[in-house]
Amino acid sequence: MVLKRVLYIFSFISLASCGNTESKKSDGEIPQETPAERGASLYTVNCASCHGEDGKLGASGAKDLTQSQLSDAQIKRILKKGKNAMPPMADILENSENIDVVIAHIKSLRK
Ligand code: HEC
Repeated sequence: MVLKRVLYIFSFISLASCGNTESKKSDGEIPQETPAERGASLYTVNCASCHGEDGKLGASGAKDLTQSQLSDAQIKRILKKGKNAMPPMADILENSENIDVVIAHIKSLRK
């Protein structure tokens, strides 16, 4: 009698944990953002307050990114060191992959 109950509880626990792994699996199946989408959301969070969603806002004297002619290397330098009223952004962007996708995004704002 006791054994049956123990078995019952065990099967319940294993069913429950089985359910958990199922839900983890389906979480993993949510499509990952593409690099361009990651760049766009990083830009919205970290850059749009000064540069605007479209790159043209110009708050605090920010440059119009649609008019910018800088190379990737020049942009990277500004993101790492900052420039005048623009603070360094590299630590906030955390890693060079994020920097690269943000650069790809701001270049897509150019005409
Ligand atoms: C606090 C406001 C502020 C934030 C936040 C900010 N910027 Fe800037 N940004 C500026 C200012 C001001 C300038 C102009 C600097 C100068 O040349 O005097 C500038 C210049 C630039 C330039 C140079 C454009 C050119 O052609 O000279 C780039 C590229 C740039 N920002 C990208 C970014 C990106 C990408 C982010 C987010 C990771 C960002 N900025 C966040 C204020 C900001």
